[in-house]
Amino acid sequence: MPLHASVADLDFRVADLTRIAPPNRVLLAEPRDFDCAYAINPHMVDEHGALKRVDRGLAREQWRALRSAFEAGGLRVDLVAPLDGHPDLVFCANPALPLPRELFADGKPRIVPSRMAHAERRGEVEHVVAALAALGYVVEPLRGTSRRFEGMGDGIWHLGRALLWAGVGPRSEREAWKELAERYALHVVALELVDPALYHLDTAFASLGDDACLWSPSAFDSRGRASIERLHRRPIEADAEETRRYLACNAFTADGRRVFIERRCERTAATLAREGFDVVPVDTGEFLKSGGSVFCMKLAHGPLA
Ligand code: ARG
Repeated sequence: MPLHASVADLDFRVADLTRIAPPNRVLLAEPRDFDCAYAINPHMVDEHGALKRVDRGLAREQWRALRSAFEAGGLRVDLVAPLDGHPDLVFCANPALPLPRELFADGKPRIVPSRMAHAERRGEVEHVVAALAALGYVVEPLRGTSRRFEGMGDGIWHLGRALLWAGVGPRSEREAWKELAERYALHVVALELVDPALYHLDTAFASLGDDACLWSPSAFDSRGRASIERLHRRPIEADAEETRRYLACNAFTADGRRVFIERRCERTAATLAREGFDVVPVDTGEFLKSGGSVFCMKLAHGPLA
């Protein structure tokens, strides 16, 4: 399948696409070494350009509560062990992209290792991929020469369908998505990211079900906006200030009903509730300092068989 770059390419209906089972597991990494030790996105520094200070004890508490919230939501937790010298490992959505088992004749899910844009995070990839391989994933590296590809930071599965929304920007390049679309005959919609504060697709877009998404229109160019609107009957706009300050779009649902979202996003939560979702507020305050929240603090995957 060629990579879809504009609304003219979207000559299909979501309801006609192959169904994939919603994720039933989350891979998590305990934030033992979590810190803002370098600045690779604008959230990590204060208004004077100094690295933000993290309260590691509080971070650990917030992470534990997030883990419990996922478990209470029926998600099985898999853990990846801490890794010395990798303060961003907690954002374990970024080092890999899982491809669901329904896409393959042998019924085995695949994992595509990331090519991290920043050297500081490159050591995470092998570690996270090894944890997923141990769970039964077949590892299929990119073959092309793309230098930037950040897994589920920029690759978001349309909930329950064989359709991948793909961020093109500071962390992932178009060429990587093109390779995946062609190699796996997959519908992949490229979305150009234009706001440096919304540097991963998961800071600007969340799939909420067949017809709904949560998004921030200003993160995209006109082509991206048109593509998202074309394939969603209910594109739900997140509050603009909450999107930038509290990563409102970095929300997650595995079942199209219960939405986990940072608790400071009160206006966005109210909108979601009005739209019929069950909102589960979680405190990710320490992790916001590093530019991440609910969605990227886990790698949603499964079922494995
Ligand atoms: N400090 C991390 C980085 O800049 C945060 C990553 C958050 N992940 C995300 N998908 N938004 O890489």
